[in-house]
Amino acid sequence: MTTREIFDTMEYGPAPESAAEALDWIATRGPAFGHFIDGRFTAAGETFATRNPATGAELAQITQGTAEDVNAAVAAATKAFPKWAKLSCHARAKYLHALARLLQKHARLFAVVETLDNGKPIRESRDVDLPLAQRHFYHHAGLAQLRDAEMPDHQPIGVCGQVIPWNFPLLMLAWKIAPALAAGNTVVLKPAEYTSLTALLFGQICQEAGLPKGVVNIVTGDGRTGEAIVTHPGTVKIAFTGSTAVGRRIREQTAGMGKSLTLELGGKSPYIVFDDADIDSAIEGLVDAIWFNQGQVCCAGSRLLVQEGIASDFHARLKARMAKLRVGDPLDKCIDMGALVDPVQHQAITAMLAANTEGEVHTAPVAMPEGGCYFPPTLITGLSPAAPLMQEEIFGPVLVATTFRTPTEAVEIANNTRYGLAATVWTENLNLALDIAPKLAAGVVWVNATNLFDAAAPFGGVRESGFGREGGWEGLSAYLKPGVKRMAIKPIAPFAAPKTPEAPPLDRTAKLYIGGKQARPDGGYSAPVWSKQGKLLGHMGIGNRKDIRNAVEAARGASRWAKASAHNRAQVLYYIAENLSARAGEFSQRLRDLTGCSKPQAEAEVRTSIARLFSYGAWADKMDGRVAQAPIRGVALAMREPLGVIGALAPDAAPLLGTLSLVAPAIAMGNRVVVVPSRAYPLAATDLYQVLDTSDLPGGVVNIVTGDAQELGQTLAAHADVDALWSFTGGIDHAALEAASAGNLKRTWINTDTPDWSGNDGEGRCFLDQATEVKTIWIPYGE
Ligand code: NAI
Repeated sequence: MTTREIFDTMEYGPAPESAAEALDWIATRGPAFGHFIDGRFTAAGETFATRNPATGAELAQITQGTAEDVNAAVAAATKAFPKWAKLSCHARAKYLHALARLLQKHARLFAVVETLDNGKPIRESRDVDLPLAQRHFYHHAGLAQLRDAEMPDHQPIGVCGQVIPWNFPLLMLAWKIAPALAAGNTVVLKPAEYTSLTALLFGQICQEAGLPKGVVNIVTGDGRTGEAIVTHPGTVKIAFTGSTAVGRRIREQTAGMGKSLTLELGGKSPYIVFDDADIDSAIEGLVDAIWFNQGQVCCAGSRLLVQEGIASDFHARLKARMAKLRVGDPLDKCIDMGALVDPVQHQAITAMLAANTEGEVHTAPVAMPEGGCYFPPTLITGLSPAAPLMQEEIFGPVLVATTFRTPTEAVEIANNTRYGLAATVWTENLNLALDIAPKLAAGVVWVNATNLFDAAAPFGGVRESGFGREGGWEGLSAYLKPGVKRMAIKPIAPFAAPKTPEAPPLDRTAKLYIGGKQARPDGGYSAPVWSKQGKLLGHMGIGNRKDIRNAVEAARGASRWAKASAHNRAQVLYYIAENLSARAGEFSQRLRDLTGCSKPQAEAEVRTSIARLFSYGAWADKMDGRVAQAPIRGVALAMREPLGVIGALAPDAAPLLGTLSLVAPAIAMGNRVVVVPSRAYPLAATDLYQVLDTSDLPGGVVNIVTGDAQELGQTLAAHADVDALWSFTGGIDHAALEAASAGNLKRTWINTDTPDWSGNDGEGRCFLDQATEVKTIWIPYGE
């Protein structure tokens, strides 16, 4: 081509990145790779091929990790843990810093290996994956340094099992390993079977950094190896990123094992364009939202919602832009889209599209390379919101689109999904954007931008997109536990009926409390409550599934509570405290009758209950979010949001204080609760009805259902409209509760040990963290 022709056509020429060094590294270190365990590479075992998806050529052989391999890795991590955990924060920070430096030093090698193994454009692995991975280690070197100063009452957890997907192999490794190490844990990580190479290269730089052996262990293999890590009794925390189906399975498999769990799962994130948006920018954003990494991005803006008035113009301009996308050799620096990770993904996407019967399919008229695992940029317009392609994660370069008329309708359609990972809003009206952002069910919202990530800004989902955050202090805290020693919860049985009961007194059957009204239990059954001395104190209603469902419905209906100002919520908490204080004598007598405790003990419990309500009244407007220091011109707001409806199984110990210690933080943050009081001493909670009635608490914010904690808890755990389940009840089958929670992947906070309810450990940030989720709203600014 002559220079003149180049000026006339403005065609791109080839700009290939050399694969020589990367292939040389593979040949020298492989081509058959073992695992990285206890600071050294093991000999290859039974292997499978990892291929370059752009050509189909075999790159290397990867070892399929066996149960013995996982045992060896967990043993190495367990052995390394005490010493690593005891290192000074500064010493750990230096190791993380060294890893960051080495990632920087070997950036080009990492980027090329990543592109060869994954098929993503070198432009992305070089300019996105690598810089973000480095930034993650730098940022976490800082968090490691400051951990003791900022989180003094916390300790590392132990050996963390980490399983990551293939779409951002090195970046997901960084997201997992950096916080785990910064907190003082050791790890066993499994990369995805399609993309193990950069994880193995990372093992090499762990050696170069002189990281103590056993702190990082990398075991390769497929889902079976992942399962061995997840279910291994030696891994005390599991961090998983991948499909919702596997996330749900992990939730079920770890039920009752006492492992802490964070799941970052799939999404079907809305990309909302209002009619006053800067359309050309919104289209460029969309290119990044859905064609970045061939659309294989958990938070891809894969569902386009355009305001009706501009839809035809927008779609026309979008199609024009799609025609300019360049699909081809990922090692070419001028390529926009590379290859899908594997033919399996190609087949899955093709099958999903073949099953679709709605809308108009537009395939970008672009030159497609011969061979290789390529899929053209695709747009499907005119789908109904319920169409399978509008609901299911396609995980490829396929954008589905619909239209909306009003902002309210945009929010409705956007939230009409089981997922809740990310959302994008384009409008020049910042008031509108900031009004919409909090209404979107998503863990991350980008305003006039998309796919922005940073180590300082929490990332993660709600609903079936999983739970837990990665990045910033919030992400670090998922790798720490409170330093205080707690006692195991001892179940308390109700006092038995005396052998010769006294003559029955007037019937005093405490009802249930649902939607701000006292309600008879649906089943019509009740049970006597006896004092220690055999006195009949009254009857408690025995709630059933139907009562729980009614209570959840009432709690859902009270959603305005989340929108009440924090000041108003505080006022209600103070009012409850005042009304409890006015009846303090009555409540302490009740506690004495119920539990057989002494007068001073009962009075102390009531006094502390009043103080606790005051504490959470105080906290209501002080659990601030923060502005994360992401390196953008703009702000990333990490806002605290209520979870929604929390099911809470209250402790037997301290029946009044324990119940209020769960209810108060939950409602202070704007949640609604369905609480199941202590089975042994239920009347301490049912006496609260009048207190709540006279405290301006809207009906449905607090619902109380007495009965069998296991049965009621099980219904709460399985209920699709319950967002979180807390338990401080002893003697029940927590495994069954956690397994049932997998249905809608609700957050669970199941405790087998108890704080001292009367002390500082029984209140504060730990409870408020459990009552809130962080939503990160990115707002770039400037002309
Ligand atoms: P996957 O969820 O099966 O794989 C992710 C990781 O989990 C891999 O390392 C895999 O080996 C491991 N794994 C698989 N089964 C396991 C088990 N039972 N226990 C423990 N670990 C296990 O995802 P896959 O099959 O690679 O992709 C299937 C679909 O999942 C994609 O089409 C996409 O829709 C979705 N996906 C979503 C991702 C996201 O970030 N949201 C990432 C990867 C896949």
